[in-house]
Amino acid sequence: MGQRFSRISGWGRYAPAQILTNDDIAEIVDTSDEWITSRTGIRERRIAEPHETTLTMAQTASERALAVAGIPADNLDLIIVATSSPDYLLPPVSSMLQHALGASRAAAFELRAGCTGFLYGLSTAHQFLATGTYRRALVVGVELISRAVDWQDRNTCVLFGDGAGAVVLEATERPTGVLGFVLGSDGAGAEALIVPGGGSRQPLSSTVLAERGQFIHMDGQAVFKFAVRTMGRALLEAVECSGLQLDDIDLFVPHQANQRILELAARQCGIPWEKMYVNIARYGNTSAASIPIALSEAVEEGRLQEGNHIAMVSFGAGLTWGALALRWGEGPATTEEVFGRQPLHLPQRVLRSARTSVQKVRIQTTSRLSPLLLPLYAMSRRVRKEEKTGE
Ligand code: UT7
Repeated sequence: MGQRFSRISGWGRYAPAQILTNDDIAEIVDTSDEWITSRTGIRERRIAEPHETTLTMAQTASERALAVAGIPADNLDLIIVATSSPDYLLPPVSSMLQHALGASRAAAFELRAGCTGFLYGLSTAHQFLATGTYRRALVVGVELISRAVDWQDRNTCVLFGDGAGAVVLEATERPTGVLGFVLGSDGAGAEALIVPGGGSRQPLSSTVLAERGQFIHMDGQAVFKFAVRTMGRALLEAVECSGLQLDDIDLFVPHQANQRILELAARQCGIPWEKMYVNIARYGNTSAASIPIALSEAVEEGRLQEGNHIAMVSFGAGLTWGALALRWGEGPATTEEVFGRQPLHLPQRVLRSARTSVQKVRIQTTSRLSPLLLPLYAMSRRVRKEEKTGE
């Protein structure tokens, strides 16, 4: 068997019809459209209606992805559902989805890695395909997070939204699709983003409910710092292990958590803003669903053509991070073409590796500086606040 690759052959998304604007939220908690827009870039988010569940959203996105790929569900060998808001603790929503789709031959499992879950899922499915174990996989990122959010807590309820995104990944002999990835975890930050109650450590009880422990609790600044520290580095590593340079990437599809985080990451890596796909204004943070939703919108908007290179990057609860680079499309017949270049001559090689080193130093320096930059950032916010209140 020759070398195997895996390419995205189908994509789909689902977002509930119900829109909740910042002004709507300002009627529930003490906040404002101005605060939410300027601190996060979010203007509105979608909220599931009572009859909708994680399963129904995942099913719609999956059926759309299968339709684009043009394959029936019973051709799937594997289903991975990344979510932190499954319908039940047991059974996994992945098996319910497998049944609902009629994917009778597919193995199915649920994967929990916070907002990074979709990239963990995509990397895992790629392994099964690249080793020749399976030929077709469905990877879903889905969150019905509005039911895990405390609607009395303005620190979190303004950020999140519901939705689902799915891709079909198919094995191919052509050198295309997933080129490389990095995944990481730092459990030292576990409590920065946590639902403390409802698991085996603190089963649901009247005390847990009284302390609102069934909802998401977040140390926003700790997560912000973590994102600034990890995103650029992960991106560069994934791109490098794919045999590419950041300049080769045509479109960056990052996890949509906060527009300020994306602006900092873009600046840190020297990525032109036009190359970042950003739709946070319309969806908020849909956690594991945000990258597949953004990817499917980017394709429909014509932002991706055969042969383009994409890099995705994410961070989230765990704390976890991940980045993945891929080549879009059916793929060329030869390996040289996949990197869009002939073998490099020595001076070109030297130049390229020098550029990579400079980028690395820049990212490492900004990451190391981030604890220093954050007090500055806090000070600038204080000044802004004082200006506003006229103190
Ligand atoms: O997928 C991963 C999930 N999580 C994240 O990505 C979160 C990463 N963190 C962030 O995006 C930001 O930290 C937030 C958007 C959550 C918060 O922004 P911030 O600029 O770090 O604000 P802060 O938490 O430092 O709060 C600043 C002030 C505080 O008031 P005081 O203490 O200065 O008087 C907060 O109480 O803003 C207040 N505040 C709000 N005010 C109006 C916090 N939330 C709100 C709100 N509306 N919704």
